[in-house]
Amino acid sequence: MQDSVDGHPIVVKALRKSFSGRTVLNGIDLQVETGETVALLGRSGTGKSVFLKLLIGLQLPDSGSIRLCGREIPALGLNQLNEVRMRVGFLFQQAALYDSLTVEENVAFPLERHTKLTAVERERRVKELLASVGMQQDLKKMPSQISGGMQKRVGLARALALDPEILLFDEPTSGLDPITASEIAQLIRALKERRRLTAIVVTHDIHSARTFADRLVLMHDGNIVIEGTIESLQNSRDEFVVRFLGEAA
Ligand SMILES: Nc1ncnc2c1ncn2[C@@H]1O[C@H](COP(=O)(O)OP(=O)(O)OP(=O)(O)O)[C@@H](O)[C@H]1O
Ligand SMILES: [Mg+2]
Repeated sequence: MQDSVDGHPIVVKALRKSFSGRTVLNGIDLQVETGETVALLGRSGTGKSVFLKLLIGLQLPDSGSIRLCGREIPALGLNQLNEVRMRVGFLFQQAALYDSLTVEENVAFPLERHTKLTAVERERRVKELLASVGMQQDLKKMPSQISGGMQKRVGLARALALDPEILLFDEPTSGLDPITASEIAQLIRALKERRRLTAIVVTHDIHSARTFADRLVLMHDGNIVIEGTIESLQNSRDEFVVRFLGEAA
């Protein structure tokens, strides 16, 4: 049921955004195919989080086109925007969970808000979702009582609650030890393979990106400097690409 353009659920063209005269995004073009997972890489402050926020209409671009599920996001009013947002699972870089709600309540939240499931159906669905990220224990705990990696897993379960077509993840593995990061990366890959989700995952973590990404996209100075498989990036002679990969290794 995907009213995408030419089979591309995400189509971004000539996207520009600046803050107080400082250009952050300077003409980004990016298309993501159905079932494809793109890892968005770049140095801190390049505009990766801004890019994701623009995609779901939390910020407005200065110019350019953003089409998600065939809808031109910057042109939508709030009601239409919310319709599209229901089809998109979003995991923010910070504050992945609501602090005052338990693990179970966090995942139930979008279901209460946007579905007509009964309490029993909702409970079953919450358990299923938490099991799919290996978090079936600890349902009654508060976010402050579980580790950072567990919080990310719960955030992931919540992002999946409404069975989205598109996933946008901002740093799902940052701040985690390498083993937990690798587990989360494998989880993202498994989700992709199981549900054919279309995803953009912002990450600093090149090892995780190797696990889940079909394509890597490297942003620098407001533009995409290179995109392709990890091998094609490794073959690049571009000075920035070589340095970025060298430092990230
Ligand atoms: N609401 C805002 N108002 C003003 N400037 C902003 C705003 N949001 C982001 N910026 C600026 O835009 C630039 C890009 O920020 P962004 O958070 O997208 O970086 P990032 O690539 O996600 O970095 P990191 O890897 O550290 O998360 C930064 O210089 C930031 O200060
Ligand atoms: Mg960021």
